[in-house]
Amino acid sequence: MATKTVSADSGSLFRTLFNLWPYMWPTGRADLKARVIWATVFLVVAKFVLIGVPYFFKWATDSLSRDGAAVPLLPAFLLAPVMLVVAYNVVRILQLGLNQLRDSLFARVGQHAVRQLAYRTFVHMHDLSLRFHLERRTGGLSRIIERGTKGIETIVRFTILNTAPTILEFALTAVVFAVAYGWIYVVVVAVTVWLYTWFTVWASDWRITIRREMNDSDTDANTKAIDSLLNYETVKYFNNEAMEARRFDKSMARYEVAATQTWTSLGWLNFGQGVIFGAGMTVAMVMSALEVQAGTQTIGDFVFINALLMQLSMPLNFIGFIYREIRQGLTDIEKMFELLDVPAEVVDRPGARSLAATSGAVEFRDVHFAYDPNRPILKGVSFSVPAGKTVAIVGPSGAGKSTISRLLFRFYDIQSGAILIDGQDIRDVSQDSLRAVIGMVPQDTVLFNDTIAYNIRYGRPDASEDDVRRAAELAQIAGFIDKLPEGYQSMVGERGLKLSGGEKQRVAIARTILKAPPILMLDEATSALDTQTEQEIQAALDTVSRGRTTLVIAHRLSTVISADEIIVLRDGRIAERGTHQSLLAARGLYASMWDRQREATEAEERLRVAREADELGVVVRRRTSEV
Ligand SMILES: Nc1ncnc2c1ncn2[C@@H]1O[C@H](COP(=O)(O)OP(=O)(O)OP(=O)(O)O)[C@@H](O)[C@H]1O
Ligand SMILES: [Mg+2]
Repeated sequence: MATKTVSADSGSLFRTLFNLWPYMWPTGRADLKARVIWATVFLVVAKFVLIGVPYFFKWATDSLSRDGAAVPLLPAFLLAPVMLVVAYNVVRILQLGLNQLRDSLFARVGQHAVRQLAYRTFVHMHDLSLRFHLERRTGGLSRIIERGTKGIETIVRFTILNTAPTILEFALTAVVFAVAYGWIYVVVVAVTVWLYTWFTVWASDWRITIRREMNDSDTDANTKAIDSLLNYETVKYFNNEAMEARRFDKSMARYEVAATQTWTSLGWLNFGQGVIFGAGMTVAMVMSALEVQAGTQTIGDFVFINALLMQLSMPLNFIGFIYREIRQGLTDIEKMFELLDVPAEVVDRPGARSLAATSGAVEFRDVHFAYDPNRPILKGVSFSVPAGKTVAIVGPSGAGKSTISRLLFRFYDIQSGAILIDGQDIRDVSQDSLRAVIGMVPQDTVLFNDTIAYNIRYGRPDASEDDVRRAAELAQIAGFIDKLPEGYQSMVGERGLKLSGGEKQRVAIARTILKAPPILMLDEATSALDTQTEQEIQAALDTVSRGRTTLVIAHRLSTVISADEIIVLRDGRIAERGTHQSLLAARGLYASMWDRQREATEAEERLRVAREADELGVVVRRRTSEV
C-alpha cells in the first residue's frame, strides 16, 4: 500500500493523471475520443483569438487618438474607430463562445471518467471483507467516496481544461511581447509570473495542512451525527441527548477553528498574490509610459500592454485557485485510492471453479478460527450435515454459533482445518457459486429502506408477484402484510425499523424461501417470536427445510427436538452431540439447559394463563414479579 505514505506532491499529481488517463481516453469509445480532439482544437483556437483581443483595443485607441499609423494589416474601411470598437467586442465574445464550446464538449468525457471510477470504488466496497466493513464507519466511508469522486472531477477539469491552455497563453504572450516591445518586457512578465506562482505554491502548501484538519474534523462530526441518529432509540433509553449533543459539538468546535483558519489563510494568500502582480504591472506600465513620453510608443501601445497584462492576470488568478483545487482534489483522491488499494481479505483462488453442488452435504473438519489471533473462537470443530438432514447447533451465548454460519458463507477464512460442501473445499470454489447454494436467515435481519415487496423479492429479483405472495404465505407474514394499508408496497423504514423483530425475521425467511437454495442456514430464525407465531413459523420452516440440508442455530431448544443431530457448542469446542433423547439421557450440559428452559417456558405459560384470567393489568404485573 504505497499510496498511504504518498503526500499530494507533484509526483502524485502525475501518477494520478497517469491513472486517470485510460478513463479520459477510453478504449472503444470513439465518440468520447472525438470530443477530446475537438475540445483541444477549440482550446487552441480560443487562445489565438484571445491574444488578438488587445490588438483590436490598441487599434481602436490609436485610431481614436488619430495616430493610426500602427495599423498596417487592415483594409481602410475597417479602420474607422467605431468598427474597431465593435470588432474588439465581437472578438471577445467569440473567444468566450469558443471556451464554452470546449467546456461542454469535454464535460461528457470528464463525467464519464467520474462515473467509471465511482463505479469501480463502489464495486470494490462490496468486494471487501466483512471484517473491513465492521471496522469502518459507513458514514465516513461514503464521505470519502463522495469527496474522491469530486476530486477526480477537479483534477480532470483543472489540469486538462485550465492548466494546459494557460501555459499556451503564457507562451503566446511572451512571443507577442518579445516581437513587439523587446525582451525587457518578457523579463518583467516572466519574473512576475514566476514570483506569483512560487508564492502561490508555497502559501497553498501551508494551507493544505489546515485544510486537512478541516476535512478530518468535518468527517468526524459527520460520522458522530450519523452514528448518533442511527442509535436514536438507545439515546432515548438512556436520556443521553445532552451527552450526544456535547460530543457532536466538540467535533464541530474543532471544525470551527480549522474552518476559520482556512478562511483567514485564504485572505493572506489572495493579498500576497495581489501585491506581487501589482508590482509587476507597475514596472511594465511605467516602462511603457516613459516610452510614450519619449515618443517610441503610441498611447495604443500603452493600453495594449495594460490590456494584455490584465488578460494574463485572469488565468494567473485562476492558477492559484487551480493549484489549491488540484492539491485538494489530490488529498481527496489519495484517500479514495487508498480504499481502492485495500486488498479484499477473502478472494477467489486463481481459476477457482464453480461449486458443483449435487446434494448439498456440509462438513466441518477440525476447524480452527479466530477473528483476532490472540483470541481463538473455534478450537477444532468437526461435524457433518448429510445431504437433506438437519443439524442443530445450540450452546451458551458467545460460544461461536453465529461464527460457524459466517465461516460456511466464507465471510472469513479459517486458520486451519477445512469446510467442505459435497466434498469440495469452499476455498477452492468461487465465492459466487458458494453463496448461491446457501440460504441464510441471519440473527439480526437488516432490511433495505424500500417496500416489503422489494425486500422479499431480493431473494430472487426476477420472481413474479405470485411467487412473492406464496413465499410470504409460507413465511407466515402474508396475513400481516394484507392488513397494512399499503400492503406489499409499504415502506419498511431505514434498516427495516418500522417492522417488529419477528416481522423482519419473517421477511428474511420469505426471501430465503424465494432463493430456494439446497443448503439452509438458520441463525436463531425464530428467536424474536412469541410461542404462538414461533410454532406457526416452525411449521413453515419444516416445510421449507424438507429435502434441504439445514443447519439451525437455536436458543430455544424446543425448536430443535426433531433435528437429526444436535451439537452442543461450548467455548469453541463441541461439548456434546447426539439426538434430543440421547442428550437428555446423558444428563449433561444439554439436559441442564433443557430443564432450565422448560422451567422458563412453564413460567411463561403460567403468566399467560394468569393474564387471560385477570382483566386488570395491575394484577398481572404483580404476578409477574412473583414469578
Ligand atoms: N467480528 C468480530 N471480531 C471479533 N470478535 C468477534 C467478532 N464477531 C464475533 N466475535 C466474538 O466471537 C465470539 C463468538 O461469537 P458468535 O457471534 O459466534 O457467538 P454466538 O454463539 O452466536 O452467540 P449468541 O448466542 O449470543 O448469538 C464472541 O465472543 C464474540 O465476541
Ligand atoms: Mg449468534
